[in-house]
Amino acid sequence: MQAIPSQPVTADLTRSAIFLVATLNEGAQSAQTVRAFCADLSAIVRAVGFRDSKNSLSCVLGFGSQAWDRLFDGARPKELHPFREIHGVHHAPATPGDLLLHIRAARMDLCFELATQIMARIGAAVTVVDETQGFKYFDARDLLGFVDGTENPVGPGRDAAVLIGDEDPAFAGGSYVIVQKYLHDLPKWNQVPVERQEGFVGREKLSDIELSDAVKPSFAHNALTSITDEDGNALEILRANMPFGSIAGGEHGTYFCGYARAPQRIERMLDNMFIGNPPGNYDRLLDYSRAVTGTLFFVPTAGFLDDVPQPAPAAAATADAAAPPRNDGSLGIGSLKNGS
Ligand code: HEM
Repeated sequence: MQAIPSQPVTADLTRSAIFLVATLNEGAQSAQTVRAFCADLSAIVRAVGFRDSKNSLSCVLGFGSQAWDRLFDGARPKELHPFREIHGVHHAPATPGDLLLHIRAARMDLCFELATQIMARIGAAVTVVDETQGFKYFDARDLLGFVDGTENPVGPGRDAAVLIGDEDPAFAGGSYVIVQKYLHDLPKWNQVPVERQEGFVGREKLSDIELSDAVKPSFAHNALTSITDEDGNALEILRANMPFGSIAGGEHGTYFCGYARAPQRIERMLDNMFIGNPPGNYDRLLDYSRAVTGTLFFVPTAGFLDDVPQPAPAAAATADAAAPPRNDGSLGIGSLKNGS
């Protein structure tokens, strides 16, 4: 039994979600504003969510590797590092991101209100580099037409897949998350016969039943993303993917959001998809889906957020000076609001 509560990483898929990826502006004041906000996040979520408590509003806050060092003193999560770009048969780019806000609810207005309230608090300290509003598409299908999320772990297996345990006691109950934005080439995809599409995914399209091993290709998406440890135990992750799109912009996409107790699980799956397993036996979904972002975050426990370690004044100034300059349009004067 865990003593310190986790953030709601294991919350169920909802009808709506907003993913905000932001960079931290220069200046010690920006870091201080974000630190002060950490302890207030749970109260802000409670205030917005209570107005319609049936609709399961939740928010997960994650931190990128470089931001962690600017923000927090003391121990560091063992596996926290920047997203590793992959140059395989296809390219998985690494893109900037210091903070992830993963907001979920059954109603988009709740998500939007929470995002608005959060930005009222930290807007002067961060620059939002990507906002994606995701929606549930029929029976939890992606925009390629397949049900997405079926084989997510359930029950106790869910916590075991995503929450850090004894391997990093200082951060037990925390998690890692990788997000990637994929854009689909739907006209090209729609020319592929359904039976071939089913081979690419490894499941039947209409019924969502898994293909038998006898007919499933070795490059099927669900074959390449099923990984095990050396003893043959499955290494699972929890996906909170959402479809998104823009008619005017001609965009149809999947926002991949994968939580795991160790980022190496997701990284192995990505290698299998982009490089192939064995190399060259890559994920054919990538011939129709292009990754345009990629960022890795650590998600500390809710207990950590309530009482974040404050850096000594001298250390804060040094960490700030060491941060590479960002061309983010910020004046670098920090927040005009009192973030505490
Ligand atoms: C274009 C982006 C993606 C799309 C459209 C997509 C879609 C799907 C679909 C339709 C399934 C089968 C149903 C299910 O079990 O959920 C699936 C399974 C899965 N996907 Fe993805 N996925 C995408 C990216 C990724 C990425 C980047 C990863 C990990 C790095 C991943 C990991 C998995 C895993 C672990 C499964 C379950 C495999 C199993 O145990 O059967 N997916 N995905």
